[in-house]
Amino acid sequence: MADMDQNKLIEKIARLKQERRAVILAHNYELAEVQDIADFTGDSLELSIRAAETEAGVIVFCGVTFMAETAKILSPSKTVLLPVLAAGCPMADMANAAELRDLKARHPGAEVVTYVNSTAEVKAESDICVTSANAEKIVSRIPVGKEILFVPDRNLGQNIINRTGRRMILWPGFCPTHRRIENAELERRKREFPNAVVLAHPECNPEIAPLVDEFLSTGGICAYARKSLAKEFIIVTEIGILHRLQKENPGKVFIPASVQAVCPFMKLIRLEDVLRSLENMEYKVELPRELMDRARIPIRRMLEMSK
Ligand code: 13P
Ligand code: SF4
Repeated sequence: MADMDQNKLIEKIARLKQERRAVILAHNYELAEVQDIADFTGDSLELSIRAAETEAGVIVFCGVTFMAETAKILSPSKTVLLPVLAAGCPMADMANAAELRDLKARHPGAEVVTYVNSTAEVKAESDICVTSANAEKIVSRIPVGKEILFVPDRNLGQNIINRTGRRMILWPGFCPTHRRIENAELERRKREFPNAVVLAHPECNPEIAPLVDEFLSTGGICAYARKSLAKEFIIVTEIGILHRLQKENPGKVFIPASVQAVCPFMKLIRLEDVLRSLENMEYKVELPRELMDRARIPIRRMLEMSK
């Protein structure tokens, strides 16, 4: 019965999506049922590129607020819908524009490198954005000697410092979901699966680095697992990604480092919400034009530098 209801929902979504000329984008951490009906599932960078390139006039963004805002900033003439308004990102809310302006005033001339997990106001105060897929590359390209302020994820920042040797001033933000993953738990998993390749997201505490084979974005983890000849992988990030990994690699085994690593905000959007969003065209992402014009500059610089 549940399946029949779900099939009806999926049919209705497909019909309405066509009528509205909409595209459905989903992040790799979204519920399995949402990932399965999306036109494209990916990481923050891949989703922002898709959003910028799509011909569709309506984007239903199944992710969190900063991702839907980034899509709107890149395509202000398109209608961007976030099906559930409460789908925020606590890390993004750990930095605000006024405090960033204060920090900039204390470090005149510094390059402000901002993780896309940030508000539009904070992006508007920044020189360049990064995602977990390109942060290391972009930071390495900043001229040596230039002071760098890295906002808002201190873990991603510290992981980049450890890998590039660049000095950066780190904003004290963090992801509460990745913070739940503890070294002791990962060590236990490694003992259970000694042959497994350990793939971690760089939002994790940098202290896990000695236990990790590769730090990658969620899209990077999917690509690595697809290409690798290994059969077992310990996945050190939010567990929503396991659905896609298992679906794309039926012959391989994926072990979560911690089943506690669940982002509650990435689980808010259900199929019913996607349907309601398309029916009522809600909730439209709206931002002041002047703010979008300023926030677009560091995002575009990032997209240019990621090519
Ligand atoms: P990715 O860009 O790697 O998908 O990460 C986004 C995110 O919010 C991780 O917590
Ligand atoms: Fe934000 Fe962490 Fe959730 Fe990603 S996993 S959306 S950084 S709270």
